[in-house]
Amino acid sequence: MSSSPTGAAARVPRHLAIVMDGNGRWANRRLMPRVIGHKFGVDALVRVIHACRERGIEHLTVFAFSSENWKRPQEEVSGLMNLVLVAVSKYLTRMANDGVRIRIIGDRARVAAKVREAWDHAEALTAGNRAITVNVAFNYGGRWDMVQACQALVRDGVAPEAIDEAAIAQRLSLADAPELDLFIRTGGEVRISNFLLWQAAYAELYFTDCLWPDFDELALDAALADYAARDRRYGRVKKDVKADGTPVSFAPET
Ligand code: FPP
Repeated sequence: MSSSPTGAAARVPRHLAIVMDGNGRWANRRLMPRVIGHKFGVDALVRVIHACRERGIEHLTVFAFSSENWKRPQEEVSGLMNLVLVAVSKYLTRMANDGVRIRIIGDRARVAAKVREAWDHAEALTAGNRAITVNVAFNYGGRWDMVQACQALVRDGVAPEAIDEAAIAQRLSLADAPELDLFIRTGGEVRISNFLLWQAAYAELYFTDCLWPDFDELALDAALADYAARDRRYGRVKKDVKADGTPVSFAPET
């Protein structure tokens, strides 16, 4: 890996995504139920949101519940749903006062009404905030997102020859978020697991063995330092990039 002289000092990701993996193992190692790992995972998330805000990250997108997580034991699924209600009542006021905008991405149709209402409330209360936007992926899958974007294309009557990357991108859940810069996965697994499939195309990937409840400011800074040293070329040979590290034109060359 070579370090880029271009804008290295300013190289904080605008948009960071995290797969918060390892809660279950963290709890198992302490002989506690998995849901306790998720509870500590929420505390880690709150810490990381504030650390990201302090570091100037504009968008943080986190994988809180995947389309596949319904396959977990019923007790764990209901524990996670209940955790949403607990987290919203415990942390929402502080988030709102700290300028955090919360947005939910994912298929809301299958989520219980009281969970949906808690998310609706969190979104409404924080809609005017801009210090950082936290996109919570809940009942989300990257493939689901592409499918619903395709459905929207058809609904909007877009002709096949008019379908280009922009037409798809503007119908995805993160249509108005900046390009994804850095994708972190904790917990030691090295895969994307149907998270932001479209957006990961040019993101830098960072994998760490750290279990999510242990992920703190130091661990975040290690990931950010690694990112700052990456040479982002978007398919180019030479560094045809602006001072802040973004390409002059995002359209990649082959
Ligand atoms: C993966 O760890 C983690 C999840 C499936 C859930 C992540 C959720 C949180 C951190 C809580 C977020 C909640 C709110 C309210 C935003 P795992 O259980 O798969 O860990 P393992 O690989 O060790 O089993």
